Amino acid sequence: MISARTRLDRFMSRQLGIKRQAIRPILAQGRVLVDGYVARDAQQSIHQFTHVSFDQRVLQNNQPHYVMMNKPKGVVSATKDQHHKTLIDLLERDDKEDLHIAGRLDFNSSGLILLTNDGRWSRQLSSPSNKIVKRYRVELEKPLTEDYIHAFAKGMFFDFEGITTQPATLKIISPYIGEVSLIEGRYHQIKRMFGRFQNKVLQLHRLSIGNLALDAELLPGQYRELSPAEVDGIFAIE
Ligand code: URA
Repeated sequence: MISARTRLDRFMSRQLGIKRQAIRPILAQGRVLVDGYVARDAQQSIHQFTHVSFDQRVLQNNQPHYVMMNKPKGVVSATKDQHHKTLIDLLERDDKEDLHIAGRLDFNSSGLILLTNDGRWSRQLSSPSNKIVKRYRVELEKPLTEDYIHAFAKGMFFDFEGITTQPATLKIISPYIGEVSLIEGRYHQIKRMFGRFQNKVLQLHRLSIGNLALDAELLPGQYRELSPAEVDGIFAIE
């Protein structure tokens, strides 16, 4: 499966094991269909989910998949791990090895996590320029105060990366419970931000990514496929 975009003649030359120059005459004869239409342009762009056939022989027919899961605590956000269960281990699907994780959560964090075989979609989700908001419910060891709200909004300098965090929103729900919205995902970001106040995060649960909220009825470890509207709608301006 190709992961990025490529030109039709490059793709066909690789698939058929023939020189790129040989592809133009084949296209001129109308023997290649791209997404059901006769393809004439050798430079036409092809991606991993473009349907391509040659003389009625299917060269590529991949379907995109998008899955939401309620990540349980104690599971690694990775496809392989030597010591612990991974998110992929929780899936009962034939195509699970083709899926990757779009936006990790720490081992002891829970909540909304997305898995897909669509690299373009997951890159868009994590691209800082798209400013996708991720919302978390956080339970803390010590009570929250207004000072936290200002510090989160102002941004914090992280020595290790040499960056200042993007403005984040903190809503105080109750003395020990806050709701944090971030548009980035630095390593242990939320724990480190509360760490500035020597306040330990006891529970961290992701509620939403962009416009997509975790289904209330999905128990830890349960998952479901996203609808096409959800796949596109996740990027809509909130
Ligand atoms: N911030 C953290 O510290 N951990 C997570 O899992 C997500 C955000």
